[in-house]
Amino acid sequence: MSKQYDSLVLGSGVAGLTSALKLARLGSVAVITKKSRAESSTNYAQGGIACVTSAEDSFELHVQDTLTAGAGLCKEEVVRSYVAEAPARIRELIEIGVRFSGSQHRADGATTVSGLDLGREGGHSKRRILHAKDMTGREVERALLATVERHPNITIFENATAIDLITATKIGAGGTDRCLGAYVLDNATNSVVTFTAKVTVLATGGCGKCYLYTTNPDIATGDGVALAFRAGVGVANMEFIQFHPTCLYHPLTKSFLISEALRGEGAVLVNGNGAEFASKYDPRASLAPRDIVARAIDAEMKRTGAACVFLDITRKREDFLRERFPNIFAHCESLGINIARQPIPVVPAAHYQCGGVLVNPDGATALAGLYAVGEVACTGLHGANRLASNSLLEALVLAQRSAARIERALAVTPADVAVPEWEEGSASDPDELVIVTHNWREIRQIMWDYVGIVRTDKRLARAARRLEILLKEIHEYYWNFKVTGDLLELRNLALTSWLIVQSAMQRKESRGLHYTLNYPAPLPVARDTVIDRRDG
Ligand code: FAD
Ligand code: SIN
Repeated sequence: MSKQYDSLVLGSGVAGLTSALKLARLGSVAVITKKSRAESSTNYAQGGIACVTSAEDSFELHVQDTLTAGAGLCKEEVVRSYVAEAPARIRELIEIGVRFSGSQHRADGATTVSGLDLGREGGHSKRRILHAKDMTGREVERALLATVERHPNITIFENATAIDLITATKIGAGGTDRCLGAYVLDNATNSVVTFTAKVTVLATGGCGKCYLYTTNPDIATGDGVALAFRAGVGVANMEFIQFHPTCLYHPLTKSFLISEALRGEGAVLVNGNGAEFASKYDPRASLAPRDIVARAIDAEMKRTGAACVFLDITRKREDFLRERFPNIFAHCESLGINIARQPIPVVPAAHYQCGGVLVNPDGATALAGLYAVGEVACTGLHGANRLASNSLLEALVLAQRSAARIERALAVTPADVAVPEWEEGSASDPDELVIVTHNWREIRQIMWDYVGIVRTDKRLARAARRLEILLKEIHEYYWNFKVTGDLLELRNLALTSWLIVQSAMQRKESRGLHYTLNYPAPLPVARDTVIDRRDG
């Protein structure tokens, strides 16, 4: 079966939905999403969106904080322009009904970005985080989905997993290579649908599931990076995986974040004896940028042999905490932890992919007709370490910019090419489930043990060797048997993990989130790590 649209958007988080809304002005849009429509990292975002709105703040300060966190690898022109565009994007969110904390008190709240309640997070020199209590992502996703659902030009396909991009080269169409759409697995019927479009936008989010412990939801399996790489598009800076310092450590919960905004309100990291330790590692202590705080926790856990550290916010009143952090308060309370009275057990966990599909500042990849927006893309905004709450901001700005560029490009789109239907293998294998679950576990354990917060050449080489064996096995399996959603995710997880390791092996220095005992200092000149299949 095949379907044709003007634009094809893969993913329904903040980047995908914002792109869909902007592209709907140009024609029909299909949004493909592999689980239910709201299931995305966006939906779990807590802290908020960084944006200069107060008189005490300035674009220059936001720029400098971003550059400092990025450890010499940010593209300064990208940082400057994204920071300056942020207020316009926030205004659009408010216009579609996003209710930021503080906004309901303003008479003209529908169109202004001043007067909102501002949070603070690590690496920010000012309070500048717009938030909806501690559920910012849920509020943004709610408002975007409601707007998308009302739009006559947009159709959402749920439980649909993009398998691979369709390119002119892959189908032997000749001429300049370009992206023609994607093959998509309908998970309900296990049939493959051919989606063709003038432009395809990758908005598939990150790859936290490559690691055993992560704050990310299950959808974050690196699909977009793998799809782009297989289509011959370069990926950059994949070694910079951000570990969030404070993921809740409790046997009855998985992947629950304790927002950095708590530290912004005075929470302090302490060890099992109740002693503050972060100031030993950096004068900014618990509010230093994430790479520093995560390494400090890692070092403290190794030094003391403890399984976790603690975040102590007991200095704040219970009514304040219940009001400002209702989601975190309730979740911890359901596990028997009253955060107003006892410290919260926390550990670092994989959180964010700073690198990704190489794009220009407008989200265009090197493959004509293919764009990448949101966490899947590497624009140069984050450099070697993302500043907290700059991710939702990047997704909003990039979606706007790519749509503007697509509007210009659609006018010159070449005539349609005949795209063949997916050729389906007929065999199914009773052993599949065990192979998928075993390899899935093994990859995530390898990445956690050998490619984590502190790396060495030896550990990376070990990870590379093991991943190559797994990649070969998964490759054979993929070509011999019918595809399933789980198998597709495993295939992408393996390739993305391998790309992280290859990038890490290329970086012979420590910078930002990439810290290796073999090269503990940064090199004098910062360079991107780019891996391009066409380079062999
Ligand atoms: P996502 O929101 O992850 O959406 C990806 C979409 O792609 C999903 O719909 C998914 O189902 C779909 N998809 C993936 N692969 C496929 C495929 N093969 N086929 C079809 N569909 C596919 N950032 C901030 O700036 N501020 C915060 O406060 C903040 N808090 C966070 C808290 C948590 C717990 C987490 C996990 C992240 C947080 N981040 C925060 C980071 C931020 O939420 C993400 O970077 C951002 O939401 C990514 O948006 P996105 O649209 O690019 O991807
Ligand atoms: C948080 O709330 O700590 C997450 C913020 C982010 O990842 O930017």
